Parts: sequence; C-alpha cells; structure tokens
Amino acid sequence: MKIRRALLYMPGDSRPKIEKAISLGVDSICMDMEDGTAYNRKEKAREVIAKSLQELDFGRSEKLIRINGFGTGLEDDDLSMTLPHHPDGVVIPKAESLAQIEWVSDKIEAMELSQGWDLNSVRILAVIESAKGLVNLKEIATHPRLDALIFGAEDYAASVGATRTRGGQEVLFARSQVVLHAAANELQAIDVVFVNFKDVINLKVDAMLGAQMGFAGKQIIHPNQVAPVHEAYSPSDAEIDYAQRLLGAFEIAESEGAGVIDFEGKMIDMPLVKSARQVIERARAAGKIE
Ligand code: COA
Ligand code: MG
Repeated sequence: MKIRRALLYMPGDSRPKIEKAISLGVDSICMDMEDGTAYNRKEKAREVIAKSLQELDFGRSEKLIRINGFGTGLEDDDLSMTLPHHPDGVVIPKAESLAQIEWVSDKIEAMELSQGWDLNSVRILAVIESAKGLVNLKEIATHPRLDALIFGAEDYAASVGATRTRGGQEVLFARSQVVLHAAANELQAIDVVFVNFKDVINLKVDAMLGAQMGFAGKQIIHPNQVAPVHEAYSPSDAEIDYAQRLLGAFEIAESEGAGVIDFEGKMIDMPLVKSARQVIERARAAGKIE
C-alpha cells in the first residue's frame, strides 16, 4: 500500500498550488473540489485538475482527487470530469454509507475496464466526519477498494454539536474509532488537520499524538506542515536501531525454541515483536532503510 504520512490538500482551482505541492515531495497530493473550493469555482476546479493530471509529472507524490459529497449534486460531474485523467485515488468526503463507497467504486471499475487500467488500481479513501459516518463505520470500512479512513474533526464536531477545544476531548472517541476500524480492516487511518498552520510547534505535538494513537499519517493544508508531519510519521533512527536489535535477538531465541526473551532487561514477546516489525516496515516505506 502507498505510504501516506502526509496528505496535502489544496483548492483544485489553483494550478500554482498543485505545482507547489509537487515541488515539496509530499507523500500524497489531494486536489480538492469540495470545501477547499469556492462554490462558484467548482467547474474551474474540475478543469484545472483534469489538465494537471494530463500535463504534470507528480514524481513520487500520489495524486488524489476529492469530490464533493453525496447529495450536493456535484459528485457525479466531479468524478466524470476528472477520473478519466487517471488519478491514483478518490477521496470521498462526509462518507456515510457503504452504498456511497460502492457507487464510486462501480464508476472507477467501469473506467478501469474501458481504459484498460489494472483492476482495483485506483483506490478510495473515505473521510469519516459526521455522526452518521461514524455510526456506519463498521460497514463502510469493509469495502475492498478502500485504502484508508480519514478522520475529519471540524465537520464531525459540527455534526454532533460539539465545540472544538485545544485538547480535543470532544473528538477523541471518534478519532479513536477511526483508528480501530481501520486496524480491523487493514486500512490506514489518517488523522485530523491541524488548522493553525503557522503554529509548527503544536502541529508537531498533535502529529506525535496521532502517531502514538495508531494513525498512519495526517491531513495537512500548508507547505510548512509537510516536513514536521513526515518526520512525526517516520520512525526515528533510535526506534529503527532498537527494532533491528530486538528482532535479531528474537530470531536467535526463536530458533532455540524460546517464545519469550529477556532483551536488554525487558521481557519481549510476540506483541512487541510485531510492533518492531511494523517499525521496520515504516522505516523501509519512508526510505530510511533498505
Ligand atoms: N498546497 C500547495 N501550496 C500551498 C498551499 C497548499 N495547501 N498553501 C499555501 N501554498 C503555497 C502558496 O501558494 C505560497 O506559494 P508561493 O510562495 O509560491 O506564492 C506558499 O505556499 C506560501 O503560502 P502562504 O502565503 O503562507 O499561504 P496562503 O495565504 O497563500 O494560503 C491557505 C493559506 C490556508 C489559503 C492555503 O494554505 C490553502 O489553500 N490551504 C489548503 C486549504 C484546503 O485545501 N482546504 C480544504 C481541505 S481541509
Ligand atoms: Mg471536511
């Protein structure tokens, strides 16, 4: 699966911002037709995105499009005008039912067949950001074309009538549920936007918290957020070193028939071995080790 430590949005009608995003080497670029685009610029956004997909080389960055939500009357044209230009994936905002994911997936499949693209190569990422989306999360998360569940805190808070606070207790339950259902279905969980883009210090704190909770990456909205978020979602050199030593020791013990070992004074068993393996996997994906 594609690594998505940071998923950068920009208004889809801004070719300069799309080009800027490519220059940043960010893992995922999400060209937005939804809330990042003004109502009277929706048509323009579709055109700019279609052209960008045709003309620009996105390098190592993933190219995603975000359509408008179901019931807006825009979602169908958003898809049909941009999907033919072969994005890597489609982000569905305010996802509220499995049927919505199926609707998008069927459109993608028809396009894959008619264009001769690999089947299931264009992925779906669903944004969970409403009470209904959270209630139906168990079904939504089972769709085989999904790669990731994204949590949208601002819309979620509005949907349940919560007031956003600095600590974020009002969204903690939903934020954790997204991690839980993603893990249960082997999907990535992608964390909330930190909207105060000038505050890099607290962005780092929030990104570290997300990583500790089990998120695989974070949504971002400004170039300043790329490096700190990539870093927060890459294992540190010390973590990689520790994981490598632990796995080495475990391998030896296992070959000698031991399931539990004393490693540098700590009891190590299967769950810790699994998490060390995940560290190595993430380090590999981040290009920190071979
Ligand atoms: N993606 C790519 N480039 C971006 C960017 C983004 N999300 N946000 C800013 N930039 C660029 C600017 O165009 C500017 O480029 P330049 O130096 O070549 O002129 C540079 O980064 C510095 O930007 P800055 O002046 O600090 O910010 P701004 O006032 O231009 O923009 C926002 C501030 C919030 C409007 C802008 O960051 C933005 O549009 N963010 C995305 C919003 C969005 O998509 N929301 C929906 C999803 S939640
Ligand atoms: Mg939203």
